[in-house]
Amino acid sequence: MISLIEPANSWRVDMTASHKPLRQTARHFLDLDQFDTGILRRVLDLGHACRRGEDVGGTRQPLAGCTLALLFEKPSTRTRVSFEVGMRQLGGDVVVLDRDAIQLSRGETLADTARVLSRYVDAIMLRAGPATHLHEMAHYASVPVINGLTHDSHPCQVMADLLTFEHHRGSLAGGVVAWCGDGNNVAASWIQAAPHFGFRMRLACPEVLRPREEVVAWARLHGADITVTTDPREAVRGADCVVTDTWSSMGLENESRPELLRPYQVNAGLMALAHPQALFMHCLPAHRGEEVTDEVIDGPQSVVWDEAENRLHVQKGILVWCLRRAS
Ligand code: CP
Ligand code: NVA
Repeated sequence: MISLIEPANSWRVDMTASHKPLRQTARHFLDLDQFDTGILRRVLDLGHACRRGEDVGGTRQPLAGCTLALLFEKPSTRTRVSFEVGMRQLGGDVVVLDRDAIQLSRGETLADTARVLSRYVDAIMLRAGPATHLHEMAHYASVPVINGLTHDSHPCQVMADLLTFEHHRGSLAGGVVAWCGDGNNVAASWIQAAPHFGFRMRLACPEVLRPREEVVAWARLHGADITVTTDPREAVRGADCVVTDTWSSMGLENESRPELLRPYQVNAGLMALAHPQALFMHCLPAHRGEEVTDEVIDGPQSVVWDEAENRLHVQKGILVWCLRRAS
């Protein structure tokens, strides 16, 4: 059983910018570059405990009486189902909201939506388009806001991927993660995880699809060894984990460049360059025959179904961290 008592210097977000005194200081889960390493380690450990079926906080249902709003500006299978199932397993409840079905679609502002939802629910998970939508929600909400993906990042996914690697291979510290393809939102969260968990990242991306420079600069400033190349073979050679993602992210279809991404496909030939024990990861949904071939995603090194499962476990850790401060 894992206790939830936090050290005195626990991370807090100050939401004093709101127009009125807030009923609590909300503990958001927005991006991995905003955390102390100890907090992320703690959340991962909670995720491992949930994966093992252990109680967290001394009770089977630590979030009994809590309600989570799940608000989607984009489609989702894994995020929607894993948050809903996870919240129920922790004893809580959910309200699922699609942007098109609520007054946001008719011009009500995000700020007003955040204020109203905060009067009904205990936390809000937002899958947004622009990252500014997430930040606006967090700014005006008086309850914790969780990032369920934006154009810029996908931290819940990368926390699940870290859990997956540790479950199969142990610590990633000192290891090499190779990213092949679009330097997109998932890549950004991997880069932001690197200084926290002590692994090296080698990203192979076409020149025009490199990860955002400020994300790479932040990770390097915090001691991470990040290489960005245009050569997928250079990135994958000897790597402990090979990761790819769709050539066309949701809401950014006009910017996709399949003709540039074809050489970055993860196939058996490319995978053979990695360490023989390397894992293959993909956040899903996959586009078989594009960024990855069947032989790799269905092959013995692939852990994609475990990654999907671990969304459930690690997000239970995130929810408990956001909503329960002490046992
Ligand atoms: N990986 C992931 O976030 O999947 P969904 O888009 O189905 O939620
Ligand atoms: N990069 C992908 C991830 C989907 C989970 C997208 O944003 O569509």
